[in-house]
Amino acid sequence: MYDVPYHSCSLRDKTVLITGAAGFIGSNIVEYLLKYQVGKVIVLDNFLTGFESNVDVFKKFPNYQFIEGDIRDLETCKKACENVDVVCHQAAMGSVPRSIKEPFATTEHNICGFVNMVSAAHFHGVKRFVYASSSSVYGDEPNLPKIEDRIGKPLSPYAISKLSNELFAKNFGELYEMEFIGFRYFNVFGPRQSPEGAYAAVIPLFAQACLDGSPVYINGDGGQTRDFTFVENVVQINIKALFTDKPEALNQVYNVGCGGRYSVLELFEGVKKSAQTPNKKPVFRDPRTGDIRDSQADISKAERLLDYKPLFDFMEGLKITVNYFKEVAKV
Ligand SMILES: NC(=O)c1ccc[n+]([C@@H]2O[C@H](COP(=O)([O-])OP(=O)(O)OC[C@H]3O[C@@H](n4cnc5c(N)ncnc54)[C@H](O)[C@@H]3O)[C@@H](O)[C@H]2O)c1
Repeated sequence: MYDVPYHSCSLRDKTVLITGAAGFIGSNIVEYLLKYQVGKVIVLDNFLTGFESNVDVFKKFPNYQFIEGDIRDLETCKKACENVDVVCHQAAMGSVPRSIKEPFATTEHNICGFVNMVSAAHFHGVKRFVYASSSSVYGDEPNLPKIEDRIGKPLSPYAISKLSNELFAKNFGELYEMEFIGFRYFNVFGPRQSPEGAYAAVIPLFAQACLDGSPVYINGDGGQTRDFTFVENVVQINIKALFTDKPEALNQVYNVGCGGRYSVLELFEGVKKSAQTPNKKPVFRDPRTGDIRDSQADISKAERLLDYKPLFDFMEGLKITVNYFKEVAKV
């Protein structure tokens, strides 16, 4: 992965802080930055849903620093932002169902943590602040594909927390003259996404179950569709946002998807094919409360302003992902 460079400036003199990088997306951004010899990359994570095993491989790099700490603590955020050029904020408590069970914790990690990180960045004069929002902010907006300016009512504490990040970013951008770029990710998948725990995402769950012979559960009839997005596309747009010099790209939110959509049944077929388990049968169970039926991103804004070009389509990403889980299973 990451054979194509997505940056056009030198990274050698840059110090990048990535929060939440013991997790899935953040650790992939770190992998890219170290591969292309960034000056320094600092990671801040409290291992809420991240893993040592995601970042162990980076320890050998002299330009890599890990801070075990919590974004709910302002002093920790300030320490992490010292001498930093750009912040890439990925840390959050993910999962819509988890947020319904734990709305207060969601608020603390995702809203208070966000405000702490922005305040810390501002305190140290860091201008560029790239952050993860979510396609969940579209809520009950019925139209497809989703367009950035047309959102509905948020349907969960998680969606409220991400929408609030966008509102704070808009406000702080004006108050502090900072440069915010927010990303509404659409169902990201790829290596290092965890299949563990009650709130695991569907692709690692399917991949692991096909490989280890455990049951594959499909919520509802499997006809629900998503714009499944391979993580390298997400890394690409983060890198472009961290280093863009286009003023019109700043203080915006962008959809990050592939612009297509696949059903959960199509996904299951794809995973079976890549895992070479053609006879695997799914177990159908009740639909999950709060799940929307269909989702698909309009990515033209990101293409236009950030020169985003998703190079990995769904099937290609799926192959890489299933192969990754095969390798992990061998260890
Ligand atoms: N994966 C997706 O499909 C998806 C979709 C939409 C939005 N997002 C958002 O993208 C970001 C990254 O998601 P991911 O899939 O990599 O999730 P992840 O759970 O793998 O990573 C999140 C990381 O944040 C860390 N973290 C959480 N709370 C923290 C705190 N208080 N202090 C320090 N670290 C903390 C966790 O330990 C974890 O390592 C999140 O903000 C998530 O809400 C992800």
